[in-house]
Amino acid sequence: MLSPAVLPSPVAALTDPVLAAAGTELRLKRDDLIHPLVAGNKWRKLTPNLCAAAELGHTRLLTFGGAYSHHIRAVAAAAAACGLTSVGVIRGDELADAPRNPTLAAAEADGMELAFAGRAAYRAMLRTLDEPATRDRLERRFGRCFVLPEGGSNAAAAHGAAEIGAELAAEPAGLGARDIVCAPVGTGGTLAGIAAGLPPGARALGVAVLRGGAGYLEGEVTRLHQEGWGRTFGNWRIAHTHHGGGYGRIPAGLAAFAEAFEERHGLAIERRYVAKMLHCLHDLAASGGLPRGTRVTAVVTGPPT
Ligand SMILES: Cc1ncc(COP(=O)(O)O)c(C=O)c1O
Repeated sequence: MLSPAVLPSPVAALTDPVLAAAGTELRLKRDDLIHPLVAGNKWRKLTPNLCAAAELGHTRLLTFGGAYSHHIRAVAAAAAACGLTSVGVIRGDELADAPRNPTLAAAEADGMELAFAGRAAYRAMLRTLDEPATRDRLERRFGRCFVLPEGGSNAAAAHGAAEIGAELAAEPAGLGARDIVCAPVGTGGTLAGIAAGLPPGARALGVAVLRGGAGYLEGEVTRLHQEGWGRTFGNWRIAHTHHGGGYGRIPAGLAAFAEAFEERHGLAIERRYVAKMLHCLHDLAASGGLPRGTRVTAVVTGPPT
């Protein structure tokens, strides 16, 4: 099983010179410490889905991802820990005969069956995932499975992430009009949940880690709000300025920022998501983009890889 989990996840105040000079308080919500195997937003998003799978009597999970997907790695680990089998459909059929990278090797070591799909077929599968014909094809090939979308972002996952806001609001320091809760955005599920779970007045800021996502990512967050809550929320936005050139890219400026941050705070940070979010907050504060008196809570959505 996935217990025991460290919940509510700890909140730590940090004094960072640039934010402090801008009159901004910074706190980290250490979701990376929730669980040793399935940490951060993976825990938030997967556990409600594991419960849903169990209720429906499923013993096999199926999901989708790229060769470096944290989600693939997390689903394999969660399935193994819960005594379930798992299938990962991986983007890129050229990878089938290539040596496994650490993500895919670890997923296989946890017993995940990997199936490699050409990029066009992969995209078509995701586009038609809710259609019976696609579900039938998947079931014929892999057996009866509980299907999780790429990145694991569905309404149940967003509800899991909504707990972040509830936990923060329940702290003695509470959450109010001066608060911004910030998270990196890959598919938008974590941000959707955070925004939906905030008390009135507090706002959510997402930092996109992929390039060219403007419009699309906002659409995904809105879709998840409609699916999960039957309404939209006006308390969030996404910054598209700190993707660093694209998903998985870590340009020299970002690497230098991350190293300096680690040295200042004695804390290792994940680069593809968490470092981009912190870099964005740092630059926003430095450029006067955060009103004085703002308190920012940055959600550490995963451990360093
Ligand atoms: C560490 C980390 N943070 C954030 C995200 C993005 O979350 P979401 O896809 O819910 O936007 C991911 C996604 O894989 C992740 O691994």
